[in-house]
Amino acid sequence: MPDATVPRHTAIIMDGNGRWATNRGWPRLAGHRAGIDALRRTVEAAPGLGIETLTLYAFSADNWGRPQAEVDGLMRLFHLYLANETDRCIADDVRLSVIGRRDRLGPLLRAAIATSEMATSAGRRLHLRLAIDYSARDALLTAAWNLPHQAFPSREAFAEALGQAIGAHDPAPDVDLLIRSGGEQRLSDFLLWESAYAELYFTDTLWPDFDAEGFTTAVHHFANRERRFGKLKEVV
Ligand code: FPP
Repeated sequence: MPDATVPRHTAIIMDGNGRWATNRGWPRLAGHRAGIDALRRTVEAAPGLGIETLTLYAFSADNWGRPQAEVDGLMRLFHLYLANETDRCIADDVRLSVIGRRDRLGPLLRAAIATSEMATSAGRRLHLRLAIDYSARDALLTAAWNLPHQAFPSREAFAEALGQAIGAHDPAPDVDLLIRSGGEQRLSDFLLWESAYAELYFTDTLWPDFDAEGFTTAVHHFANRERRFGKLKEVV
């Protein structure tokens, strides 16, 4: 029986990089760069907190609307991250996958993603999923479009189609805990179906300042929540 106090699938909206940099009078990209350090700390801390799947929102489909220089800089950072961190993932037994659309990414980044996914495919300690060019609503539409329409789909069949729509090679469990840093309290088109019963945790900490202590606090909050999945406590 899995421990219900552990958020086995945790998802994070890493918000606040831009403000972190602006507060220091630095360009926004410096905030994204610092965000990578926070990401690394988070990935390192996750298995010790009992987390098996960690999904991080790195770039939404709507982020293409940011200034070209910021978009280009983020794409370079994703590439750099994959180039630098793949070996560490292998050493730490982490499997890395990317979810989202790939057809709008540059060919070099696409190739780097494929290389990292292949190289880390044996990782069993943590499944790290980076959402890049991701939109939950677009994924839902794609899944609906791709389903055979002979019969009304079951939730399981739909979830499978949704997994295919985001390029997930294997199904991830529903999200248990959804964390958003940076003070805003919204979902921003992230994992809308998968988070149907997720516990939500919002922190004012800007993403580059997020650390293992903040992560542990979020997980402790989760452990104290009473999850009923629409039922009564005694039934659950
Ligand atoms: C939101 O903060 C953050 C992003 C759009 C990018 C997230 C990227 C990283 C954490 C770094 C690189 C990631 C990987 C996977 C290597 P914001 O820019 O909207 O911040 P703001 O609300 O303060 O402007």
